[in-house]
Amino acid sequence: MPKITVITPDEKHHEIEAPVGRALLTVLRDLNGFDLEGTCEGSLACATCHVIVDAAWYPKLKPVATGEHDMLDFAEGLTATSRLCCQIPVTDELDGLVVRIPAEG
Ligand code: FES
Repeated sequence: MPKITVITPDEKHHEIEAPVGRALLTVLRDLNGFDLEGTCEGSLACATCHVIVDAAWYPKLKPVATGEHDMLDFAEGLTATSRLCCQIPVTDELDGLVVRIPAEG
């Protein structure tokens, strides 16, 4: 099972296991209890599932689709490697992924 490192706003690093096929939002919030709202449950109507992807990993993720791109504009603390984690399905290729949960949510 792919392992993902999650950096929380307190700068702690957490290594978790991520089941393939689940949305990263589900893995982070529902399976591991990280503090992400994900208010719209993945329908691209909020930006409360915003995470910041490690710069080395960002190009390896599936590209940002138009709907995600538009909604990212509403994310608090947007960065060049920001993604909406409800739009990132876990695959075996993501083993070693590093994401940061922004303080602003
Ligand atoms: S949960 Fe709303 S856009 Fe991801």
